[in-house]
Amino acid sequence: MRLIELIGRSKRKTAAAEPGLTILELALKHDVDWGFSCTRGTCCRCRCLVTSGMEHLNEPTDAEMEGLDDEELEQGYRLGCQAKVMSDGDLTVRNKPYF
Ligand code: FES
Repeated sequence: MRLIELIGRSKRKTAAAEPGLTILELALKHDVDWGFSCTRGTCCRCRCLVTSGMEHLNEPTDAEMEGLDDEELEQGYRLGCQAKVMSDGDLTVRNKPYF
């Protein structure tokens, strides 16, 4: 297991990057102030920028393909409630809601 740096709106925390959990689940578990509402991939409030470790996440889900545009996906944006840790490795993720 490795570490994930979670950067919320006002808090930043480094925690174990537990495989099987989504970025949003990790942020909530570690009390990082992360935007969210639906947890189903439709509100986009959990949008975040993965600046390292994208290779340790699942492929974008159908909800992410619909909710984010191609440019955002290329830049490393994901939806925290959809992006799940799949393999061991370090990650850095910053919550970047639209508003
Ligand atoms: S919480 Fe709504 S899209 Fe993730």
